[in-house]
Amino acid sequence: MTVSVSPSASIAKGRVLIVGATGFIGQFVAEASLDSGRPTYILVRSSNGCGSKATAIKALQDKGALILHGLINDTKLMEKILRDHEIEIVISAVGGENLADQLSLVEAIKAVDTVKRFLPSEFGHDVDRANPVEPGLSMYVEKRKVRRLIEDLGVPYTYICCNSIASWPYHDNTHPSQLLPPLDQFQIYGDGSVKAYFVAGNDIGKFTMKTVDDIRTLNKSVHFRPSCNLYSINELASLWEMKIGRTLPRVTVTENDLLAAAAENRLPQSVVASFTHDIFIKGCQVNFSLDDAHDLDVGNLYPDVSFRNLDECFNDFAIRMGNELVTEDGNSSGNPVVDQPLAIITCA
Ligand SMILES: NC(=O)c1ccc[n+]([C@@H]2O[C@H](COP(=O)([O-])OP(=O)(O)OC[C@H]3O[C@@H](n4cnc5c(N)ncnc54)[C@H](OP(=O)(O)O)[C@@H]3O)[C@@H](O)[C@H]2O)c1
Repeated sequence: MTVSVSPSASIAKGRVLIVGATGFIGQFVAEASLDSGRPTYILVRSSNGCGSKATAIKALQDKGALILHGLINDTKLMEKILRDHEIEIVISAVGGENLADQLSLVEAIKAVDTVKRFLPSEFGHDVDRANPVEPGLSMYVEKRKVRRLIEDLGVPYTYICCNSIASWPYHDNTHPSQLLPPLDQFQIYGDGSVKAYFVAGNDIGKFTMKTVDDIRTLNKSVHFRPSCNLYSINELASLWEMKIGRTLPRVTVTENDLLAAAAENRLPQSVVASFTHDIFIKGCQVNFSLDDAHDLDVGNLYPDVSFRNLDECFNDFAIRMGNELVTEDGNSSGNPVVDQPLAIITCA
């Protein structure tokens, strides 16, 4: 007897647990997991009953997320959750202050031994290569400790090195895509010529989810390097000037200015200053090539899947600017000044 399989027949997808889904990066990942059709559980801290976190939880729940309560540093609870819900993929997007909590989570994953992939909270630079000044370095030391425990215990992993989020890279803001690019003056780091990769938040989520059960990404680092989104800060300033239809003064922030902001040790601003120094002075995103077998370029893995173009992301900021003007001033037309129609522009 011949059994034919319908092309539309879906392949069963492993159950995903996302920790930190109410956070900045975690929301993108949780949405992408739900969009991919996977059964998606999100672990929520019990204190999250109100405000923007509650709204975020409700939005994910409405899309089909299953809510669990708890803390990842409760190893026994995590073991129970992983077993009871037959979780195959665990993704952590805890923030900088809670990175060490992941050590207990890794122990729990090892104890149950049924998780097929763990993605720790990385979502930035390759922390074994990059060496920012303090206080950013301490954050990387924590991320490195988590990596070493994963590797020592033999937990299957993928490290996501997605570089910068598509936005103006303010040197004192951990979530810069929540702000508009500058409207008064640009702060240009150093001579403004060092390049960095900028990736839309939705693409961070989308490509992260593509890696989670891809055998090629098992025990590898996956780097996000879309060539169309490789910009220096001078180029970024020019892009924004095109969108708003006027030029703005450019003020230089020197290497010493960034080092002084880092040395102030104001948290989290100084952490961002140290990363800004690493990116735009030292070139930490572009000063190495992916010639190690451990490193994969996400663009090579999924050549048919496109990245959102930075130009288009900046069109979104221009639209937001128009909307915010309407809110502040009822007389404003709210029309953004954009240099081209808002077509979907993507790059492979
Ligand atoms: N590439 C980039 O441009 C970029 C930008 C920002 C961050 N990142 C990286 O992305 C990762 C996430 O950072 P983020 O800024 O998105 O974090 P965030 O906004 O601070 O969110 C952290 C999330 O983790 C949850 N959480 C923290 N500790 C927990 C615990 N013990 N048990 C359960 N949940 C816990 C928080 O829950 P509550 O809701 O209860 O607080 C929140 O949902 C970090 O590794 C960071 O370095 C990258």
